[in-house]
Amino acid sequence: MKAVILAGGPGTRLRPLTCTRPKLLMPIANRPLLDWTFERLSWAGVSEVILAVNYLAESFQQYFGKERYGVKIKYSREPRAMGTAGPIKLSEKMLTLDEDETLIAMNGDIWCDLDFSMLDAVHRKSREKGGVATITLYEVEDVSRYGVVELDREGRVKAFVEKPGGKVRSRLINAGIYAFSREIFDYLEARKMSMEREVFPRLAEEKRLYGFQHKGEWGDIGKFEDYLRVNFQVAEALAAGKPRIEGSAEYNSTVKFVPPVILGENVKVGANSKIGPYAILGRNVKVGESCQLTETVVFDNVEMGGGCLVKSSIVGEGVSIGDSVRISGGSVIGDLAIIASNVKLTRKVYVCPRKEVEKSAVGPKRLV
Ligand code: GDD
Ligand code: MG
Repeated sequence: MKAVILAGGPGTRLRPLTCTRPKLLMPIANRPLLDWTFERLSWAGVSEVILAVNYLAESFQQYFGKERYGVKIKYSREPRAMGTAGPIKLSEKMLTLDEDETLIAMNGDIWCDLDFSMLDAVHRKSREKGGVATITLYEVEDVSRYGVVELDREGRVKAFVEKPGGKVRSRLINAGIYAFSREIFDYLEARKMSMEREVFPRLAEEKRLYGFQHKGEWGDIGKFEDYLRVNFQVAEALAAGKPRIEGSAEYNSTVKFVPPVILGENVKVGANSKIGPYAILGRNVKVGESCQLTETVVFDNVEMGGGCLVKSSIVGEGVSIGDSVRISGGSVIGDLAIIASNVKLTRKVYVCPRKEVEKSAVGPKRLV
């Protein structure tokens, strides 16, 4: 198996954090999202991955280089954004795909515990019935933000509707992970082209599109709420019982940890602080005395004074926070920002990277 990962989107809804890193390198439990995906692809025996990059393309090359977990990585850079189908066509000439070999293609902003070899096996059955593509499906309550799929009894996709405006009958959505036969390239063009609005509806009409429902964990990290939810899901899986300490950490017996909690390497926590539930702290994070951190993701190299409260929020890399600061209600602090003592940022206040904040701000949705 070979794979193509769509990694070129600008991650607009995750700004200010995506001003300085691509969405796919956002940390999930202290590891970039894409790193989790490479690991799973490697487990399934995928030997080569093409990363279809565009926005902040160099960051991927810097982080992953030419190989990860034994999987060879090639980079395909578009001259301009080409949507979700164009970049796959563009990667065709870089791929060495055997006649019978399955191509996995996926939206890179997905966290999922799918076994890719299972998808391959299902696709091989679809192929016997004339299928060119098998798409992974997931059941959700609110389908409006996704591609919605109706299946027939044989697992064939009857209709594919991207982000439906009105009412739809199905609760099955496109999970953004596909298995393709080589023939897919006959349906793709090297221009700005949408897989969801152009290719899948056509394949469904021709009865060559199949679905496979995934019943494990799945999440798209496109919005802050989703990004936090995925982190917390993974934290539950890794650290439900006791704090997960990655390397060495420094704290004394007055510190209270309420799992799930993940502490990156070399974290220091001051006396009488309460960490968790749902707190993920990156490498070299320093928390002062009597702080409270709940439902929060803190990136690497953050320093925080005493008496701070961080709740339901995200603190970017290298942020420096004074004493008695309150950050809450879905607020997000961009990388390297400096927050002065006593500042309160509540209800979706978004702080730009490197910004020095000296005054409090209240949202909803306020950019500082
Ligand atoms: N190379 C490249 N070029 N990649 C791109 C481009 C582009 O022009 N545009 C988007 N991408 C990448 C993004 O980085 C992301 O990994 C993926 O394509 C999907 O784009 P999103 O912008 O995240 O789409 P979405 O989340 O609104 O919808 C898609 O995902 C849903 C599942 O999460 C669709 O595939 C839906 O049908 C699906 O349900
Ligand atoms: Mg998405």
